Amino acid sequence: MKKVTVAVDGPAGSGKSSVSRRVAVDLGLMYIDSGAIYRSITWYVLRRDGSVTPDFVFTGDIGELKIEQEFTGDGASLTSVNGVDVSVLIRDEVIARNIGIISDNVDVRNFVNVLLRKWTKSRSIIMDGRDIGSVVFPDADLKIYLDASVEVRAGRRMKEYLDLGKNVDENLIKKQIIQRDEQDRRRPYGALVRAHDAVYVDTSCMTMQQVIDHIKDLVLHIGQ
Ligand code: DC
Repeated sequence: MKKVTVAVDGPAGSGKSSVSRRVAVDLGLMYIDSGAIYRSITWYVLRRDGSVTPDFVFTGDIGELKIEQEFTGDGASLTSVNGVDVSVLIRDEVIARNIGIISDNVDVRNFVNVLLRKWTKSRSIIMDGRDIGSVVFPDADLKIYLDASVEVRAGRRMKEYLDLGKNVDENLIKKQIIQRDEQDRRRPYGALVRAHDAVYVDTSCMTMQQVIDHIKDLVLHIGQ
């Protein structure tokens, strides 16, 4: 297969990450989780400053911030910040509560975009996020916009929590998803948009395997 860049965007809970990982493993691509980078910066700022405040400024000392991500053969991603493995820490609820200010910041976004582009110079990749097809790789070989109804996405999140042994209120999850959609779509820079040349896939009535197979077909087609 020739070298390909695949951008997968969509709202929270649309299945981007799970699907992209499986496609990457099956087709031998490198998977990059761009959301994990925003989460890592949030973790770093929280640890350094104790909180993320609305007047947050992304200062020069960020040059000392070294974020790395490794994709393992079994589909897992390891993300580290200055040598500390934060892969699990960045999934904490406190990160989700504070990430809005970080991911709205244009300097943060520019920093992340430089990093993401650098990582993909010489290899075939599939990267998921919100602005991958619109901002990070506007010339991607393939752009996919994954979507699903709020109800279906909330149901998937509930299942993830239940699998982790956590009990959560479905209405609260739904509310959080609607809030995140708003935040992702209203962001002044790097907002979640469906690129005009993206393939739209509504996964509401599809199984995960059906989505994976569909995307693999699309990737194989452009990689010929
Ligand atoms: O995909 P995720 O839930 O791990 O993303 C975490 C947050 O980062 C989410 O609130 C949206 C933001 N994000 C972004 O602004 N741009 C991206 N390319 C990826 C994620």
